[in-house]
Amino acid sequence: MSRILIAYYSRTGFTRRIANDLAGRLMADVLPIEDVRPRRGLAGYFRSAREALRGTLAEIVPPTAHPERYHLVVLGTPVWAGHVSSPMRRFLHDHAGSLHRVAFFCTQGGRGAEQVFRELSALSGRDPEATCALNDGAISRNEFAPVLDEFVARITGGSAGLMAAAGGIHAGV
Ligand SMILES: Cc1cc2nc3c(=O)[nH]c(=O)nc-3n(C[C@H](O)[C@H](O)[C@H](O)COP(=O)(O)O)c2cc1C
Repeated sequence: MSRILIAYYSRTGFTRRIANDLAGRLMADVLPIEDVRPRRGLAGYFRSAREALRGTLAEIVPPTAHPERYHLVVLGTPVWAGHVSSPMRRFLHDHAGSLHRVAFFCTQGGRGAEQVFRELSALSGRDPEATCALNDGAISRNEFAPVLDEFVARITGGSAGLMAAAGGIHAGV
């Protein structure tokens, strides 16, 4: 078992792609957070926006991994209407008490990451070791490797990690 877990929610695959890439770089275990009720199509889109705006705790499939067994949990979510996705909100509601160290990443069309990182901090009760925001365009064009390199360096305590600790640097494309 790895000492790092990547727990993420993804509706359309962007966050999943980053989570899986990070898992390879960090040799981490992966925990996909799964909806009980599908969110496909336009109805799923609007329900997602509504839930994010209302702070709804979406129903999720009980996780198969045990976050409390990991030294560090990397949390990944899409930005929904400027907020954390409702399945990630539920995951943190249920498991925040068992988290030790955390790092955050989010995927987005273009804006909302900073608010989402604040919400993830509040929901997890933890300050992140590092944060990373990725835009859909950069993900689609495969232009995210340098940003993930920097994120991973900060998580694993490389020289960029010391800089982040000193200056609160955030990665992002
Ligand atoms: C309901 C909903 C609301 C969204 N709101 C925002 C937003 O406020 N800002 C933004 O930049 N992108 C927004 N997006 C775009 C997603 O954050 C982006 O496409 C993300 O990469 C999707 O991740 P996924 O493919 O892992 O589900 C929204 C998407 C959905 C479904």
